Amino acid sequence: MAYSDKLLDHYNNPKNVGTLDKSKNNVGTGLVGAPECGDVMRLQIEVDENGVIADAKFKTFGCGSAIASSSLATEWLKGKSIEDAIKIDNMVLVEELNLPPVKIHCSVLAEDAIKAAVNDYRKKNGLEEIQFEESV
Ligand code: FES
Ligand code: FES
Repeated sequence: MAYSDKLLDHYNNPKNVGTLDKSKNNVGTGLVGAPECGDVMRLQIEVDENGVIADAKFKTFGCGSAIASSSLATEWLKGKSIEDAIKIDNMVLVEELNLPPVKIHCSVLAEDAIKAAVNDYRKKNGLEEIQFEESV
């Protein structure tokens, strides 16, 4: 099985690895695990006063495809509104990284981490959590 150059690049040089200050009210943290394999991903967003994601960071304890998915996701998140952020679908990550079928759940992890981070941000700011449908 051959991995795409884009995937290998995000795996070898992951963008936005790190931690944002959880104690800040404008930081949302999503921590999700993949039941398929036990890999774990933490993704954080920092939202500015205009509701735009100014920064995004991740830490993934997992496979290369999960690391690449979260690296790409954080790149895409920066500069997006919350509304647009939750439109990031795992299948666009799959397409962009050319993930093989057995690695699709790794991209789902990234989508779920984004949603969890958004809901954490909303909860911290007195907003109702969004009920998302299960991603495939
Ligand atoms: Fe082996 Fe995810 S199951 S790295
Ligand atoms: Fe499970 Fe990639 S193998 S997240």
